[in-house]
Amino acid sequence: MIPFTKPIVGEEEIEAVKRVLESGMLAEGKVSRELEKLFAEYTGTKFATVTNNGTTALSTALEAMGLEPGDEVITSPFTFIASANSIAMIGAVPVFVDIKPDTYNLDPELIEDAITDKTRAIMPVHIFGMPSDMNHILEIAESHDLQVIEDACQAHGAEVDGKKVGSLGHVGAFSFYATKNMMTGEGGMITTDNEELLDEILMVKNHGRGKEGGYSHYRIGYNNRMMDIVSAIGIEQLRRLPKAVKQRRENAKEYDDFLSEFDSISPQAEKPGLMSSYHLYAPCIYSEKITRDELVTALRSEGVGSRAVYALPCHLQGTYLNIHKWRWAKFVDYPNYSSMHLPVSEEIGQRHFDIPVHPSLTEEDKEHIKNAFYKILG
Ligand SMILES: Cc1ncc(COP(=O)(O)O)c(C=O)c1O
Repeated sequence: MIPFTKPIVGEEEIEAVKRVLESGMLAEGKVSRELEKLFAEYTGTKFATVTNNGTTALSTALEAMGLEPGDEVITSPFTFIASANSIAMIGAVPVFVDIKPDTYNLDPELIEDAITDKTRAIMPVHIFGMPSDMNHILEIAESHDLQVIEDACQAHGAEVDGKKVGSLGHVGAFSFYATKNMMTGEGGMITTDNEELLDEILMVKNHGRGKEGGYSHYRIGYNNRMMDIVSAIGIEQLRRLPKAVKQRRENAKEYDDFLSEFDSISPQAEKPGLMSSYHLYAPCIYSEKITRDELVTALRSEGVGSRAVYALPCHLQGTYLNIHKWRWAKFVDYPNYSSMHLPVSEEIGQRHFDIPVHPSLTEEDKEHIKNAFYKILG
């Protein structure tokens, strides 16, 4: 089976981890500071700080932004559940707004109607590496005095008008989970230009510890720190990232060209000004002859690692159907997610599938994938 992902771990990562192990300083320290500096440079932000995963990058940032129980955060339902959970975790309310059928990202035209006097923030998710329509979203946020937190967990290296995602909103969050374009196994990063917010983030992620260090603590916080062993892998992965994104984009463009031969297949659209980093290559199938699930099964039996990752959008997940059991439900009024109908997310949930697009694909792999489509779709 051609795998949907293939993390690249070379001698560089092994040597970097060895150096940290030999130094005896394993916890978050100077190697993490180096990764933060390099990551901030890469994304074009003033500051970056590591966290132990992408979920805590999001929840730490939201908490530092001062969100309170019952505050509403508008986000996409067509995402990995962690986007919504990071909001619900801190007692805030995920308000799901439907997506656009071509980009699979938040539809800005629908955002305004979802804004209430409890709305505090918008969390666009750059799904599969495709940037959200940030210009439009930032305009709406500004006119309603809302904060914008970018869920860039799948989008390292993606750009809007030449600017890297994570540098566009008030704060950005990245995941370095094992399958991501840049990966450390588990890990995460928060980016921002706002020094005051950064100070708060640093406290939230480290038990409210003051800047002076030591054992003075000023607010409730967590241990969301990342180990230097992990950051050492991150530095090597960041070096690989630009080339990896370029290769992913070349693979994606090759697929776009060849899949245009099939009327029933519609790739995720890269709109002008938006540059995807193709964490996943996930087109939709609109066919009367074959369902999406049949196509995924057929591709898999041809040895192509295909999947349908968000068949069930967040509002239809048990988590949100059972939100009344969540501890914050004693204090917070949640919407009735079970009666929510978000037609585009539900439809894309039933039509999308992904095929391997990672930079380790060989020419033979790509030929094999193309031939599988010819065989299945004729
Ligand atoms: C869109 C999105 N948001 C958040 C996360 C959470 O990241 P992590 O798994 O590192 O906690 C992920 C990770 O898969 C993700 O894909």
